[in-house]
Amino acid sequence: MASQVLVAANRGPLSYALAADGTLSARRGGGGLVSGLSTALAEQPGALWICAALSDADREAVRRGVAEPGVRMLPIDPDVYDGAYNGIANSVLWFLHHHLYEIPREPVFDAEFRRRWDAYVTYNEAFAAACAEEAAEGAAVLIQDYHLALAPGMLRELRPDLRIGHFTHTPWASPEFLRMLPDDIRSQLVWGMLGADRLGFHTETWGMNFVSGVDGSGNGTAVAHFARGGNPSSVTHRKDTDGPGPLRETVVDTYPLGVDADELRGLAHRPEVDDKLAALRAEVGDLKTIVRVDRTELSKNILRGLLAYRELLISHPEWRERVVHLASAYPSRQDLTVYREYTESVRELAAAINTEFGTADWQPVLVSVEDDFARSLAAYRLADVALVNPVRDGMNLVAKEIPVVSEAGCVLVLSTGAGAYEELRADALTVNPYDVTATAEALHAALSMPAAERADRTKRLAVAATALPPTQWLTSQLDALRT
Ligand code: G6P
Repeated sequence: MASQVLVAANRGPLSYALAADGTLSARRGGGGLVSGLSTALAEQPGALWICAALSDADREAVRRGVAEPGVRMLPIDPDVYDGAYNGIANSVLWFLHHHLYEIPREPVFDAEFRRRWDAYVTYNEAFAAACAEEAAEGAAVLIQDYHLALAPGMLRELRPDLRIGHFTHTPWASPEFLRMLPDDIRSQLVWGMLGADRLGFHTETWGMNFVSGVDGSGNGTAVAHFARGGNPSSVTHRKDTDGPGPLRETVVDTYPLGVDADELRGLAHRPEVDDKLAALRAEVGDLKTIVRVDRTELSKNILRGLLAYRELLISHPEWRERVVHLASAYPSRQDLTVYREYTESVRELAAAINTEFGTADWQPVLVSVEDDFARSLAAYRLADVALVNPVRDGMNLVAKEIPVVSEAGCVLVLSTGAGAYEELRADALTVNPYDVTATAEALHAALSMPAAERADRTKRLAVAATALPPTQWLTSQLDALRT
């Protein structure tokens, strides 16, 4: 049966594991996007989630026709998938949107890049075709993220009747960064996005970057209309190939994803988390804790966070043997050399700090490289200070989760680079992510903050963090698409 509501995203709500005896089992997919969307989508009857088969086990599940209701996995050819996901989405678009390039060496747009771009086009075509096939007349389709920036335009060509939305969970590159792309590629990217009726971003800054970047992107006329303070911005446009006719409009709006307080508190008080909390308490005793939880992701700025902690121990030696830094940095995108090297650098720097300052009774940094959500929730409950210092981040849900779950109140040290900064800055201690000394001083101020002030700030942070929980985040986008 054709669906009225569709979501298209690289990752699905589940993934498969293939046992040695050939049995397939389904488990919940990873990543922040998945957790938010799964709950929200469950409330939309008959909704369909279209995702890529990510592994051999997923492809095997598709081959055997194993199907979970409400999910369609696309068995994309592994080479095409690698080119699109590792080659373009994670190595080019992620780097552009997060401003991560080390300019003397990168980016390099050569023949190999073109080959990968072709894979990215094929991957986007597969999603557009599947959406076109599954959508009921006039259905709403919500396409997610930089993996699928071309799909809105492709889907518009196939099914002009649909209401198409696209949401970007990352920042959007500033216009100067976007202009690094070869002109024809930038044009495909911008016009792919403009195929949507509505584009969503977590913050006004990221939306503004998109609108500012459409100028001069070839292939047609695109006029930016900026609005600040409440009203959405928009782009009116017409492709040269469409001939004369009215301009189409793409509305650019912000939907700052928040957390569902009841759901998160429920998860944080499961017996499994209580056990992890008891284990952590036994490990850290009555020392103060500085907690961080990230994927080992270049944009999360884990290395400068460790350098700031090191500087704190030098400039405020009174904290030695009185504080522990709990850093969860769980593996991510380990197919890419630069991510493997970064993970190794995090391990090495943490070990160097432990060697430099550790004593027989005190280990200054405890690094966990496991993807252990229960342990992270236990650390959230225990945290005296939360360190969230990305160089650039679409939203950063950890900054929102910790104040909601924290037991005694927790001071949030938050960088200006996080999307969450726009909503949380009033009650966080804010830092420039590159300024290690200022971050060390913010950690000192956070550790020294009186308990009453800390608790008051945490309450206000929790209110801001829960302003737009996932279900409302999704329904407000669907409502806007349908009007
Ligand atoms: C970012 C993206 C998400 C993605 C997550 C994990 O937050 O916006 O779409 O799910 O990173 O990345 P991965 O490459 O592991 O899916």
